[in-house]
Amino acid sequence: MKALVIGDSGGIGAAVAHDLRRRGAEVTGLSRRDGLDLTDQASVALTADAMSDQRFDLIFNATGALVADGQQPEKTIRSIDAEVMAAQFALNATGVALLLRYFSPLLREDTRAVFASLSARVGSIGDNRLGGWISYRAAKAAQNQIIRTASIEIAQKQKQHIVVALHPGTVKTTLTRDYAARHPTISPRQSAEALLAVIDRLTPEDNGSFWDWKGERVEW
Ligand SMILES: NC(=O)c1ccc[n+]([C@@H]2O[C@H](COP(=O)([O-])OP(=O)(O)OC[C@H]3O[C@@H](n4cnc5c(N)ncnc54)[C@H](OP(=O)(O)O)[C@@H]3O)[C@@H](O)[C@H]2O)c1
Repeated sequence: MKALVIGDSGGIGAAVAHDLRRRGAEVTGLSRRDGLDLTDQASVALTADAMSDQRFDLIFNATGALVADGQQPEKTIRSIDAEVMAAQFALNATGVALLLRYFSPLLREDTRAVFASLSARVGSIGDNRLGGWISYRAAKAAQNQIIRTASIEIAQKQKQHIVVALHPGTVKTTLTRDYAARHPTISPRQSAEALLAVIDRLTPEDNGSFWDWKGERVEW
């Protein structure tokens, strides 16, 4: 089993790479330290091109940010800033579209292979009851649409390929440092093990779906 973990420098990404290695997988990690910046199309294209002879059974995208352009997530529409919102979209939405464009061709052909991307439950439109965090929510909702749309095209060419969005739980990482105080959290290790168990159970019928770490479907 060969896996590519994009964002293996992050809290969840590092735990996913660790757990995959513990299971005996051959794991390649990628992050900005390798020159891969999701907000820079050329860097995504060049990094994928340098790996074009490799094929993976799992591509796991663990990149993302809650704080973009240095601004904390908005509590109200009165705080909307066009540049901050654009920065959110560049990473959490467009960046994932670029990964799908350049890296999904590296999924192993003619066998079950999974492209899984960390979205967030707060990106669910149907599940939004609290409001707030407009840019992050909207960028993750856009990511969800990108995942769903790409999944249809990818499975038309390779019927055993599965493209999904995942919610990792509220995980104790740098990303949640200032926000998780009032919520129960899980460790990156717990999240990684649970997410990999969800991925293990996916079948081609699950292509284009959104799952949480407990193995329950999240509404779009
Ligand atoms: N933690 C949670 O509770 C939680 C809940 C819901 C969803 N999520 C989602 O899960 C994902 C991972 O979260 P985390 O908690 O593990 O966060 P994290 O520890 O802050 O890790 C974020 C990862 O994203 C990478 N990254 C950031 N900007 C990038 C860019 N421009 N180009 C390439 N890589 C970039 C970071 O790489 P560098 O090392 O280069 O900065 C790092 O590997 C995110 O998409 C987040 O929205 C997390």
